[in-house]
Amino acid sequence: MLYDNHGREINYLRLAVTDRCNLRCFYCMPEEGIDYLPRKELLSFEEMERLVRLLVPLGINKLRITGGEPFLRKGMLAFLERLSQIEGLTQINLTTNGTLTADIVPELKRIGIHAVNLSIDSLDEARFFQITRRDVFPQVMKTLEELLAHQITTKINAVVMPNYNLEDIIPLVNLTKDHPIAMRFIEEMPFNGKGAHEQTGLWDFPKILNYIQTHFPEFSKIPDPVSSTSFNYQVKGHQGTVGIIAAYSRLFCGSCNRIRLTPQGMLKTCLYDGGVFNVRDLMRAGATDEQLKMSFTDALAHRAKDGFEAEENRKFDRPISESMATIGG
Ligand code: 5AD
Ligand code: SF4
Repeated sequence: MLYDNHGREINYLRLAVTDRCNLRCFYCMPEEGIDYLPRKELLSFEEMERLVRLLVPLGINKLRITGGEPFLRKGMLAFLERLSQIEGLTQINLTTNGTLTADIVPELKRIGIHAVNLSIDSLDEARFFQITRRDVFPQVMKTLEELLAHQITTKINAVVMPNYNLEDIIPLVNLTKDHPIAMRFIEEMPFNGKGAHEQTGLWDFPKILNYIQTHFPEFSKIPDPVSSTSFNYQVKGHQGTVGIIAAYSRLFCGSCNRIRLTPQGMLKTCLYDGGVFNVRDLMRAGATDEQLKMSFTDALAHRAKDGFEAEENRKFDRPISESMATIGG
């Protein structure tokens, strides 16, 4: 098993397969988009598979494919299929914006994808457009329908933003009434790409909780899974659950079990760090599997204790300015 210098077990890799996205969610990217990486700078599928295969014996058993929008990358399904054959990898999850996925849900089911996280910040088509700057609400809802029909575990992410989607909070909670959806409300973080807006007056975890509790007096705490980033609740009688992710307040660092690889192969041992080393460069310079494994274990021996320390460490050389699409949401 893999442990960091603070005794936390690391078993979860988040792999961002592209920085490209067909939406422009304003909390993630400026309207004109970000400067995308040249294709050859991205990890190839072969490189990513090699990394997963060498990390699994070290103790990684859970993988999330994220981006950007993963399905903008050609060959994604074949890649998922190959990953699904790796022994010891017990869960493959996906984060997607759901715009390109409605038709391939049966394939995802067949491959054995464990869970899909969909980004749906609003259930109102006009507000959805205002937030994502793209007119794709029906496609996303179709994906949601298909996921539920195929009984794939479905989580919905909504970033909570004053002036944009507060009126969506209650309707989104209501989605859990008749569907086994894990609805998750996320505090907005400052990862919005260069030149984008500032955070819009944070609605933090207590504020979100209080707001929901006012509308649903029978909103009770349920146990949080190990290393869960969300505090979890359920409205009495509802099939699904509601989680609140204190992503900005960083209340979950003590049990953090995850590492991240960015699309260009930068290892991040914390969402808030500036990148520890570039594993793509090592691979392309001819590093052996053993050398690569050593680099990972070494990095974990010097991990910041929480997101505040990680942010502090990068303050002078690389202050936060990147988009979530380049980090892996
Ligand atoms: N703050 C909080 N969450 C964000 N996401 C993207 N950008 C931000 C941000 N600035 C979340 C979205 C998406 C996931 C990939 O990351 O909810 O679902
Ligand atoms: Fe794309 Fe997700 Fe960023 Fe929205 S939040 S622009 S869907 S990567």
